[in-house]
Amino acid sequence: MCGIVGYIGQKEANGILIDGLKRMEYRGYDSAGIAVLDKGNIFSLKRVGKVAELARAQINFSYRGSIGIGHTRWATHGNVSECNAHPHLSTGGNFAIVHNGIVENYAQIKAFLIEKNYTFHSDTDTEVLVNLIDYHYQKAPCSYFAEIVRKTLLHIKGTYGIAVMSEIFANEIVIARKSSPLLIGLGEGENIIASDAAAVARYTKRVVYLNDGEVASVRSDNFLITTLHENTVDVVCHELDWEIHDMDLEGYPHYMLKEIFEQPSVIENAMRGRFTTDGCSTKFGGISLTPQELRAVDHLLFCACGSAYHACLEGKYLIEKYARIPVDVEHASEFRYRNAPFQRNTLVFVVSQSGETIDTLAALHEAKRRGYTVLGITNVVGSTIARATDAGIYQHAGLEMGVASTKAFASQITILSMLALLLARIRDMDTVVGVQYVQALKSLPVIIGEVLKLSNSIQLIAKKYHNYKRFLFLGRQAMYPVALEGALKLKEIAYVHAEAFPTAEMKHGPIALVSEGTVCLFIATQNELLDKTMNNIQEIKARGGKIIAIVNNNCIAREVCDEVLTIPEVHSGINPIVSIIPLQFFAYYVGILRGCDVDRPRNLAKSVTVE
Ligand code: G6P
Repeated sequence: MCGIVGYIGQKEANGILIDGLKRMEYRGYDSAGIAVLDKGNIFSLKRVGKVAELARAQINFSYRGSIGIGHTRWATHGNVSECNAHPHLSTGGNFAIVHNGIVENYAQIKAFLIEKNYTFHSDTDTEVLVNLIDYHYQKAPCSYFAEIVRKTLLHIKGTYGIAVMSEIFANEIVIARKSSPLLIGLGEGENIIASDAAAVARYTKRVVYLNDGEVASVRSDNFLITTLHENTVDVVCHELDWEIHDMDLEGYPHYMLKEIFEQPSVIENAMRGRFTTDGCSTKFGGISLTPQELRAVDHLLFCACGSAYHACLEGKYLIEKYARIPVDVEHASEFRYRNAPFQRNTLVFVVSQSGETIDTLAALHEAKRRGYTVLGITNVVGSTIARATDAGIYQHAGLEMGVASTKAFASQITILSMLALLLARIRDMDTVVGVQYVQALKSLPVIIGEVLKLSNSIQLIAKKYHNYKRFLFLGRQAMYPVALEGALKLKEIAYVHAEAFPTAEMKHGPIALVSEGTVCLFIATQNELLDKTMNNIQEIKARGGKIIAIVNNNCIAREVCDEVLTIPEVHSGINPIVSIIPLQFFAYYVGILRGCDVDRPRNLAKSVTVE
């Protein structure tokens, strides 16, 4: 989704803005632009398409300054065009703005401003915002930039993350947020603002996140944050846990492939320091609940979107199997509007890689409104969800650049498996079984390393099947969420129609789709119900469908399948983590063979910050 960057300091802003926009490319966008203040005047440059286009144009852009703002736009109001791209300037050019979010009452404000002789050159709601700022300045000129922005925002309905610069207030950028993330990266004699820490991580690791309803005046050597109603706020500085190499391809052709291969160390990071010294359970420093409080929990509710939702479904299988606590998993977008009844002793978890997904955040607020304790599992330190939860677990997976989640998903299910063990050990799991579980978890990095060696074999399979038009992913029990995630990856990355079902459900409808053009991927790595799965494989075979089976050393009849991928046989607590890897590779290679932009799939955004 849209990205905001801004620079104020002693250096030339242009290059830093373009670099910041490049760092946020992974979020998805369709046009980009920058504006800089050069000798007291604002000049902007915009391009449709990639940031590289903007970077090329910037070489001949003769305006330079050490204060500027930039934006990558993902079209909402108005089509993809240069005039709809941000930054937008006010009539007369005194103010420039970049904006993420949606101004809901823009039509009324626009009508009002047209009456006051303001002119509009785009179809965006953002141009309304910047002209309203100018209107408030003209109406009652005052020497506090933030004051004018504050006054304006009191009239705005909707969501925003904004950065505003001005010819009149040449030493500051004013930023404000409501439901759309913004942060200030703190440098020496310079500050960089952004909607995503990826844009500032190259320059500083110290960041201050804005909360909803806050406005900040950012100068090169200081900043002041207040609320919309001018109250002071306590500033908390967070230290980013990303490394610069997270942002580089390091020889890989794509971030997706790099991130698939990073999974052994990502999983190791998810587990680091989280085993008890007695070697038979796990612990999470971030969970503030005592064993007594955890023991009192009768029910768990997980809310998430996309791949994180699939991770939660996996968590349900593992927690119910090992800890025997009933678990519900809800799409965050559904939960936020649903008046669902839950037991009193329900513990709520929200899971989000980015920590910024708007529906997950709304589900969090809804659960808190109802008085539940809400814990988070997030990857981004200091993200909105991390700050809004009562406590939580960080994934420490490093920055995930590929739009389609791979390593973050693996890290989420690793953490959920560890949570299942923790909850089980508080209840009925005995020490010996706990030790076996811990040993299985500890073996994961090595086992995943083994599975990664299948990359070439999976590439060959992808070569045979990449032109097929229909794919069904089938798995039973804990392999069903794996099937769902595998199908989602293929849809996202290769734009192929793929669906997932619990294997036996196939007979209740989806089998009508099976013909010679259908490929069925069976995730048959669990050891229960294999004879039943074998029947299902035969049923597909009899109807001419192609069969790719992911198996371990079990009794699936290999000769019936068209392709067989054998992965190690492992403890069921870690089996889903091992079983997803071949499906990630499969989606990647099919996507590449179909000529898709696997790191930035069409129409998708890395983190969805509008409803
Ligand atoms: C988007 C991304 C998905 C991601 C989902 C949830 O749809 O394209 O890859 O799984 O958002 O994101 P989150 O950051 O909340 O895990």
